[in-house]
Amino acid sequence: MDHSAPVLEIDSLRTWFLTARGIGKAVDGVDLSLSGGETLGVVGESGSGKTMLSLSVLGLVPRPGRIVGGAVRFKGLDLVRASAAELLKVRGNAISMIFQEPMTSLNPVFRVGEQIAEAVRLHRKLGKAEALERARQMLVKVGIPNPDRRLKSYPHEMSGGMRQRVVIAMALALDPDLILADEPTTALDVTIQAEILELMLQLKEERQTAIMLITHDLGVVAQTCQRVAVMYAGKIVEEAPVLALFDEPLHPYTKLLLASVPRIGERRPLAAIGGAVPSLMALPSGCAFHPRCPDAVGFCATEEPALLAMPDGRKVRCLLHTART
Ligand SMILES: Nc1ncnc2c1ncn2[C@@H]1O[C@H](COP(=O)(O)OP(=O)(O)OP(=O)(O)O)[C@@H](O)[C@H]1O
Ligand code: SF4
Ligand SMILES: [Mg+2]
Repeated sequence: MDHSAPVLEIDSLRTWFLTARGIGKAVDGVDLSLSGGETLGVVGESGSGKTMLSLSVLGLVPRPGRIVGGAVRFKGLDLVRASAAELLKVRGNAISMIFQEPMTSLNPVFRVGEQIAEAVRLHRKLGKAEALERARQMLVKVGIPNPDRRLKSYPHEMSGGMRQRVVIAMALALDPDLILADEPTTALDVTIQAEILELMLQLKEERQTAIMLITHDLGVVAQTCQRVAVMYAGKIVEEAPVLALFDEPLHPYTKLLLASVPRIGERRPLAAIGGAVPSLMALPSGCAFHPRCPDAVGFCATEEPALLAMPDGRKVRCLLHTART
């Protein structure tokens, strides 16, 4: 893989819900890029568009949502304009998705070994026995004890943590270039969460996989990501290297998020910020964050901030920063 070229380039992506009640701009002009071996965190409160962003990449946005503009280039192929056949080839093969609830990806009526082997056979020309052997190797890799016995287990015979390991094993059996992980450890207890994240990072190092990690948990971001994008009401409001963001957040929303961050391992949602998340159907004028923003000034209610590139390469969407430079 060419490490200089981004694996994923999201360009002015807009995913809207066109409903009788109005238009919900779940993803509204998002630009992001991600290189091999890089982990990008995507954070933001519930409803900010994180899941729709990742589903957009794979063309899996549920109705009545749809991509109304922009491009998603994966290794040069525009997935927004790709044919159904091209998308199917990319999905679960070159790009793997890991969801919060492992049962989303597992079929309760098949044994774990068969499921991984089937997924492998769908994308690789391997015999049944070879595919099962690959499944076994992957279970070993993700630290599942007694892999031979576990190959024959049904998902319900395993704990939540073990099931998520199986999902990761399945994702990795296909040797993807990109993993989209949407709250992959949120349902797990803290110790298991740390182990699963560690495992993903280890495999990322070995294979130079690009990872987009969606999470509520800034502690997880600090532990695992190089870069982080903060979403608010369908837009990225700040993007920065992790250390820079934690050291000196630029956007008032990021400052509030960080002020509400629990210590690593402590469970606390991003709820400590005053005011409710606005409805996407009735977004405030100007800067969508202005009703909740402690730094808001008069023109914040009328002027819409653009995402501004700062001299150090960080990006911030706030009128105060526009005014400063
Ligand atoms: N079926 C739907 N109909 C209309 N709007 C929808 C529908 N599904 C999602 N949306 C809109 O898309 C927005 C983004 O949803 P999304 O699931 O991406 O948020 P999220 O950031 O992943 O939240 P969470 O942290 O709770 O998972 C929501 O605020 C909602 O307004
Ligand atoms: S533009 Fe105004 S309201 Fe929006 S984040 Fe900046 S200061 Fe706050
Ligand atoms: Mg979500």
